[in-house]
Amino acid sequence: AKDQIRNGRLEGGRSALVEQYLSSMEADREIADSDIRVDIAHILMLRKQDLIDAVSAKKLLTTLLGYMENGLPADVFDMTREDIHAGIEAQLMADAGSDAGGRMHLGRSRNDEVATCLRMRTRELLIDTLTALFELRQSLISRAEEHTTTIMPGFTHLQHAQPTTLAHYLLAYESLFARDTARLFDAYTRVNISPLGSAAFAGTGFAIDRNLTAAYLGFANPMENSMDAVANRDFIAETLSSLAILMTNISRICEELILWSTSFVRFVDLNDAYCSTSSIMPQKKNPDTLEIMRAKSAAVIGELTAALTLIKSLPMSYNRDLQDLNPHLWNAFRQTNMSLPLLAEIISTAEFNVPVMKKQASAGNTTATELADFLVREYGIPFRTAHNIVGRAVKLGSLELDVVDAAAKDLASISLKEKGLTEETIKKVLHPATILRQKQSFGSPNPKMMKKAVKVADIRLVQD
Ligand code: ARG
Repeated sequence: AKDQIRNGRLEGGRSALVEQYLSSMEADREIADSDIRVDIAHILMLRKQDLIDAVSAKKLLTTLLGYMENGLPADVFDMTREDIHAGIEAQLMADAGSDAGGRMHLGRSRNDEVATCLRMRTRELLIDTLTALFELRQSLISRAEEHTTTIMPGFTHLQHAQPTTLAHYLLAYESLFARDTARLFDAYTRVNISPLGSAAFAGTGFAIDRNLTAAYLGFANPMENSMDAVANRDFIAETLSSLAILMTNISRICEELILWSTSFVRFVDLNDAYCSTSSIMPQKKNPDTLEIMRAKSAAVIGELTAALTLIKSLPMSYNRDLQDLNPHLWNAFRQTNMSLPLLAEIISTAEFNVPVMKKQASAGNTTATELADFLVREYGIPFRTAHNIVGRAVKLGSLELDVVDAAAKDLASISLKEKGLTEETIKKVLHPATILRQKQSFGSPNPKMMKKAVKVADIRLVQD
């Protein structure tokens, strides 16, 4: 029988359907390399502690190093072997002899083994995510640097609100991604702890050295409680949450760019390489890559939901349900790590339509707040009164002098004309570029501050 583990306790075989149903082999391809390294670390430690003889250890290590160099034999992944851990052990018995092969699993269980492999693979994939996030932030920062003086409207409730700059917009997204970076780093510190040597959950009577295997495998520490070590998957929940938040942020910028590329808005022209056309409508240029990305974020949120739902019903310690958790993690990483570099490329190659942005910057009375502020500064009226006067003028149809004056007379019984307000002053005050230059508060889109913000973002990126 290929399944070495069943021979003792259980009678008879299992149907192909049961075998397939129980097997984690497909998803375990993700941790095959980690499992070889875990085996090597464990054998080195067993040898050091004199828990395995030199001849067997040598045979096992030579064979495992061969797998590392030449890849695992295809037989390892045979469904009948249940999972990668059993698969490699069976293969070692075939290749290094059943005596040596049978000595490897001393003082450990697949429970601590799989938890260790999962953490090792998660570490690698987190580093991939962080590297790709770095590129994405870089692309946002360099586009922001180009556009510190590109004036555009900002929106609240998706209604034209106040003038801002494209740099302000892009750096707002960069700030989100900087926090995603911090969250992923934080998750990494809790992933990077070793469960190995916890065995089934209760440790072992053999004098194994958990500090040593932890160090061999690059972990910061061994986990403190052997029951927690095999049973906990909050490191997966935490990683998935961070990925889900990241993909939620990504979905927002996708949505934004999709909107910006419509003929209603026309703020951006996406590079053709990321767009598709229609099979019937020859004029179409559709932002498909961004749409798929927006959809992928739903998948990642779904993987988090699946994971939390699975974990929440498990008593201590290991339960086989945990095996079914792993594909959710791998899929979330796959979707995220594909999306990030694509988004960076889309942003780097996008052509922003500066004239349209500029024209729209003052559309829909985006400058009205500034006029209210001006009335406060110039004539000392309370902000709420000024707010009402300007609001009334907008309602009456424009921010021209006569209209504003009529509103002021009506609401506050003052004549702004008599106080010296002219059409020219209003025009000057309401010029979007002037408005932006006047912004003083920290974090605002004043082009001078934006230039500084670009530098600050750049430094933060390098420090991250
Ligand atoms: N394939 C299993 C998993 O991914 C490995 C641990 C199996 N342990 C067990 N007691 N059946 O969770």
